[in-house]
Amino acid sequence: MREITTVGVIGLGTMGAGIVEVFAKAGLSVVGVDGTPELAERGRGFLEASTGRAVAKGRLSEEDQAAVLGRVTWSHRLTDLAGADLVVEAVPERMEIKRDIFTTLDGIVREDAILASNTSSLSLTEIAAATAQPQRVIGMHFFNPAPVLALVEVITTLLTDDEVTGAVRELAVRLGKKPVVVGDRAGFVANALLITYLARAIRMYETGHVSREDIDAAGKVGIGLPMGPLTLADLIGLDVVKEVCDVLYAATHEPSAAPPALLQQLVTVGRLGRKTGQGFYAYEKPGSGVVTDAPEAVGRPGAASSVAVVGTGDLATDLVDRLTAAGTTVTAVDDPGADTASLAGTPVVVLVGGPEGSCEDCGSGDCLIAEGVDPSDATACECCHGTAPEAWFGAVAESLDSRTVLVPTDEPSAWALLGRIDPEVQVVPVAVHRPTRSGSLVEVARQIDGDDGAVRSVDATFAAAGFVTLVTRDRAGLVVDALLYPHLNDAVRMLDSGYAGAADIDTAMTAGCGYPQGPFAMIDEIGADEVADGLTDMQTETGDPALSPSPLLVEHAVANRSFLG
Ligand code: 3HC
Repeated sequence: MREITTVGVIGLGTMGAGIVEVFAKAGLSVVGVDGTPELAERGRGFLEASTGRAVAKGRLSEEDQAAVLGRVTWSHRLTDLAGADLVVEAVPERMEIKRDIFTTLDGIVREDAILASNTSSLSLTEIAAATAQPQRVIGMHFFNPAPVLALVEVITTLLTDDEVTGAVRELAVRLGKKPVVVGDRAGFVANALLITYLARAIRMYETGHVSREDIDAAGKVGIGLPMGPLTLADLIGLDVVKEVCDVLYAATHEPSAAPPALLQQLVTVGRLGRKTGQGFYAYEKPGSGVVTDAPEAVGRPGAASSVAVVGTGDLATDLVDRLTAAGTTVTAVDDPGADTASLAGTPVVVLVGGPEGSCEDCGSGDCLIAEGVDPSDATACECCHGTAPEAWFGAVAESLDSRTVLVPTDEPSAWALLGRIDPEVQVVPVAVHRPTRSGSLVEVARQIDGDDGAVRSVDATFAAAGFVTLVTRDRAGLVVDALLYPHLNDAVRMLDSGYAGAADIDTAMTAGCGYPQGPFAMIDEIGADEVADGLTDMQTETGDPALSPSPLLVEHAVANRSFLG
């Protein structure tokens, strides 16, 4: 097996400088090249600053920093790459520039040197075709920030030599990275999934149904990703996001991949995200991640002083505990036989799904029949008796008047209210999500004729109980599922297309984008049936064919099969 000890990196912007750092930290000799002495000097500055931050945090000793910096030489001449075993190009995503560089490199590097591109969106096959030896051309796609994220997508063309692929794969492992080897297809694995998800989030923002901060809270707190989609788009660079959208759309003609109008406009006016100091957010200065136009953090007035939680199960218990801890007077109603007339006048009444798995007829986990109640009474179970769960929650609803805001937390609870409530009673549905590493999210749905005060009160009540909250229009999937489920569906489509396996797709998203779990682990946890049903609801509501669940997802739902062994 060949030895790679000296590498060249061309283009010393965010990605290129990060790649230099990765190589130098792994003990390789690096030649960093950019177009002018000033740009090469800027590259040196990036490396000094990044390793300096690590020293300041005590993660790197000063001696090690000196050793890392000592392994790198800086240049503005491609001819200085003559001795390199491998060259990684990381210049802007313009095919003519890349082809030009690769053609020139052909005449500079040794016969056996490997030529790699960090392109995130362009066709590697087209780049390879510009060289005399396309068999030594390969993709080495790092993720931003390169020193932190572990994924390297190793992209092969039909002509790439197996030995070259093996050497690059092995090098990636030596660098402490996780390589995923795939063929040359628009967006490869991670960008094809991630950037389509970001485009969806941007389109959602365009609708004005939900704020910038709330979309980001949905991604970070609701789904549990390291950052919200608009913050991440600003980090990646909106020009890069748009370029990848353009390439994906050109390859697939899927409307979901098309660059949203707002994205195009931001790029046109030069608001490219953190690097220019302005994108979806405004930043302290170019390159900074400190947001300067965040709305003032005002407390949320209007939290209800007294709340009733009607229902049983873990969520009901958790809500009672949290609200009580927040100083709210809580009435827990966990018995369908209880007198509910006394709830009249309670400012907020939360309805939570009934006892789980208590329907002996169908074994449904969502059944609203309380323990000990005979299902043949046909009052409550919508799972197998075809009637809405009206008995318990319906009775509660009937005892309330305009002094109360009713808060169903799931669909059966909402259905139970149909035709049973005084039109004066405000209904504000919410979705309470599982806790993630960033907190517990509650989505508050604003209905078309919903009263602002009622929405604010529900929002404030959950916020006071320690939830992160967001407010959005009452649409299928609200924000979290409307972002997540199509994203998961895209992953299933990619698997079904034969481009990459489930384990590689999961590695790409965990190692490349910091996901706590990959898409297939998420589907297995949520349930393929739930994801497919959620997509169908969204598709029914919007008529968007892109939201139809992939046949492979439906198969897994029907067969009750998990994706990962
Ligand atoms: N360079 C070096 N180190 C960095 C860094 C940088 N630019 N940014 C952050 N770090 C380090 C920090 O020093 C810190 O290290 P420590 O824990 O040892 O002190 C660690 O990363 C965590 O950083 P922070 O505590 O400041 O912040 P977070 O915990 O929020 O992590 C993040 C920041 C690593 C950026 C994380 O939010 C994340 O993983 N976000 C997702 C990023 C993502 O999806 N990237 C892929 C984009 S797609 C792409 O690049 C492909 C392209 O083709 C478009």
